[in-house]
Amino acid sequence: MLIKQPADIHPSEITPPELYARRREFLKTAAVFGAAALLPPIMRGTVAQAADDDLKLTPYKDITAYNNFYEFGSSKSDPAENAGSLKTKPWFVAVEGHCEKPGRYTLEDFLAPHPSEERIYRLRCVEAWSMVVPWLGVPLSTILPRFQPTASAKYVEFTTLLDPAQMPGQRTRLLDWPYVEGLRMDEAMNPLTLLATGLYGKELPNQNGAPLRLVVPWKYGFKSIKSIVKIRFTETQPKTTWAISGPGEYGFYANVNPAVDHPRWSQKKERRVGDLFRRETLPFNGYAEQVAGLYTGMDLKTFF
Ligand code: MTE
Repeated sequence: MLIKQPADIHPSEITPPELYARRREFLKTAAVFGAAALLPPIMRGTVAQAADDDLKLTPYKDITAYNNFYEFGSSKSDPAENAGSLKTKPWFVAVEGHCEKPGRYTLEDFLAPHPSEERIYRLRCVEAWSMVVPWLGVPLSTILPRFQPTASAKYVEFTTLLDPAQMPGQRTRLLDWPYVEGLRMDEAMNPLTLLATGLYGKELPNQNGAPLRLVVPWKYGFKSIKSIVKIRFTETQPKTTWAISGPGEYGFYANVNPAVDHPRWSQKKERRVGDLFRRETLPFNGYAEQVAGLYTGMDLKTFF
């Protein structure tokens, strides 16, 4: 658990990826021997997660070299190769739409005074691969109330930077730029929804969506929009980039659902990056207990 903003973290304080693995082993042992109760409350959450053997961390080099970030190209290695051109300092976030306190905030002001916390989440891509990532971030639910959304705010829309000079992919018609994503207000306010600023205790690398990206662990990875410059409270469901690009293939909800196949491939299984064998995909990516209630009464085959 780190309680500093990434910008405040001195390089000597960064936990190298190998130490994460070792700490995890310690936490597992602690959980087995019931020592969890002795840990400070903040670490007990990590024990509960670490006790799940499904949460073996994906190596840093895979998380940062195998990416989807179409603003920098459509092959998995393009973002790591090309995202160096993205200038992330200074960075501003505009808050617009149905709220009492709209404005344009520096990233620091937008996040302040909330401390970053570590969340180990599975990321399940719609392409049926997955990773386990130790994110560093601030729950969106602690940030949004400050802008005082009104009763008309039913959805939150997120927009990525639009700057073809820095983002070569935007000079092509690959997608309808800028990249836009959205959540229903109750999804945005769910405690699992994270605005990430780092991973493995370091600042987010550009290819992973620096300096600010969304992480919605029970949804397919495309909902986790990168390099966010705008948040807008809307009354109607936002038009999202992948739903515009392929409405029959990518829905607004995009909840991880092994029972609803993508029209071109099955979603029953997934391959964890680095693993040889595929594993079963879990409903809501394993977070059903926390989020299934958000969709009570909805036909998730229709609202895919
Ligand atoms: N955000 C933007 N702006 N552009 C993108 O192309 N790709 C999405 C999502 N966020 C994407 C994006 C997809 S399809 C996935 S699977 C995740 O980012 C991948 O995140 P990662 O590269 O950190 O694993």
